[in-house]
Amino acid sequence: MVQINLPENSKIKKGTYYRDTTGSKNIRKVNVYRWDPSTGKNPRIDTYEIDMDNCPSKVLDILNKIKNEIDPSLAYRRSCAHGVCGSCAMNMDGKNGLACTKSHAEIKGDINIYPLPHLKVLKDLIGDLSTLYKQYESIEPWLKTSKKEDNKENLQSKKDRKKLNGLYECIMCACCSTSCPSYWWNGEKYLGPAVLLQAYRWIIDSRDEDRKERLRKVADELKLYRCHTIMNCTNACPKGLNPAKAIASIKKMLATT
Ligand code: SF4
Ligand code: SF4
Ligand code: FES
Repeated sequence: MVQINLPENSKIKKGTYYRDTTGSKNIRKVNVYRWDPSTGKNPRIDTYEIDMDNCPSKVLDILNKIKNEIDPSLAYRRSCAHGVCGSCAMNMDGKNGLACTKSHAEIKGDINIYPLPHLKVLKDLIGDLSTLYKQYESIEPWLKTSKKEDNKENLQSKKDRKKLNGLYECIMCACCSTSCPSYWWNGEKYLGPAVLLQAYRWIIDSRDEDRKERLRKVADELKLYRCHTIMNCTNACPKGLNPAKAIASIKKMLATT
């Protein structure tokens, strides 16, 4: 049997245990992935005892409490705290999601927090999204039109506007792409569910005049057809969107146009 071992320097070690200092009777243990490339040390899991009587309801509140009251060295992204910016995406209790909308009461037992899977880690809970952003740029996510009506809205019918529902809400958090096995193995070439959902959003916008070219650009064995309809993406989306359906719609358009 083939045995695969991780390189010694990538094995996750046991880190520091931070005991509660408040005397609270309502404690939860929170295990957090930590890695600081500047130290040259292995990644580790630090454990924090959190006084839940003085912690608001979301996982992001726990991280803020750790950073503000226990360990200011913890690194993670966050901005809006309302599920709008997508920056606090991470893996909590084994599932990708937004820390600012995920209720910690939903998690049973210890709370385990990791960066989004299968990304290079920059530090602690911060994954490297530069490849995904380059892929996003490659689909040219803006309206292409020859209309030049300065200071006027570019109107579309209610029916056409409705076609954007379930797409425009995407906040590019990457929860879907980083839960997709095809993206894990071919992330440099396969565009992945987040970017393909965005591509479809522009393909079906009635005001856009570049539909044919947009379709031509994604019609590629590696960029598009690496999707095998596994549906992890749709299960992972914290906004309730369906990237797998958007990908299937692109494939259907290519097959019928
Ligand atoms: S449906 Fe396609 S994009 Fe979604 S997880 Fe599966 S392979 Fe990835
Ligand atoms: S489709 Fe959902 S999970 Fe994927 S990037 Fe958009 S909001 Fe995030
Ligand atoms: S902080 Fe903006 S989505 Fe969570």
